[in-house]
Amino acid sequence: MEGRKKDYIDTQDFTKEEILNLVDLGLLMKAVIKAGYTINPLYHKVLGMIFEQVSTRTRVSFETAMTQLGGHAEFLAPGQIQLGGHESLHDTALTLSRLTDILMARVNRHESVANLAKDATVPVINGMSDYNHPTQELGDITTIYEVLPQIGKKFEELKIVFVGDCTQVCASLAMIVTHLGGNFVQYGPVGHQLGENFQKICQDNCAESGGTFTLTDDENAALTGADIVYTDVWYGLYDKELSEEERKQIFYPKYQVSAEMLSKCSPNVKFMHCLPATRGEEVTDEVLDGPHSIAFDEAENRLTAMRALLVYFLGKEKEAREECAKYLKK
Ligand code: CP
Repeated sequence: MEGRKKDYIDTQDFTKEEILNLVDLGLLMKAVIKAGYTINPLYHKVLGMIFEQVSTRTRVSFETAMTQLGGHAEFLAPGQIQLGGHESLHDTALTLSRLTDILMARVNRHESVANLAKDATVPVINGMSDYNHPTQELGDITTIYEVLPQIGKKFEELKIVFVGDCTQVCASLAMIVTHLGGNFVQYGPVGHQLGENFQKICQDNCAESGGTFTLTDDENAALTGADIVYTDVWYGLYDKELSEEERKQIFYPKYQVSAEMLSKCSPNVKFMHCLPATRGEEVTDEVLDGPHSIAFDEAENRLTAMRALLVYFLGKEKEAREECAKYLKK
């Protein structure tokens, strides 16, 4: 446990070195598993997965990662466990800490996963809250590092542009990119850009890392030289939910990622989307299915990142690296 973090609740929780180590660990295990080898560093370990919302990528990547690494995942849905009935989160945390080795939770309110981590004696990973989506970002950074040779730049030289509404993914991407010394731009309408709390975090990150942080509604300033264009659904982090008509009036067509938009970026631009996408709204089919899109590599790297996180938090990094080294020598 020496120096190891207990939980991953906030995108800011890991240092730059820890993030890069997790990316490296994830890519190492991905290479070994893709080559057809079996590694079992999580033999007999059990993950409890609490979901207050639906999920495809997060649920399946955690579950697949546990199975592939020799462990087991328990899906704990609302209505199937006592939480949400008369049993408190505190008692659930204490109980699940006796029955599992690690927990992940996708929650409606960030304080739920923060309190779960406080009360649980086992590690807790945030599978998305209304504040941020840290596991998405570990997968995204893994994906960006994988495509650096195709772009032909170092991470710190990239211009990473998030287009559209200030969702949890927008906030988390801004935090992790600026934390790692990259250049982050949100290209979105005034009133739908990241709020002061996130601005302060990202500006502090830049002061430490040498990265840059920009909010703009100016197309040229945003798109010229963009190496990565990233978007998410038009459902930002507000108290008031907008109607479909209101969202369209605000974001369409200026903030829809189209082939025309990508033509204004760097020639090697890559398109990313956390998914699920609303095709025809924030992105066209032509872009999502087109040659610039790495959105489905990104989805696959949720699994790459989950393997790394699970091995790290369960204290099995040394064993996993040794098992991988054995196969890669062959
Ligand atoms: N991107 C993401 O978290 O997808 P799911 O909601 O399907 O887990």
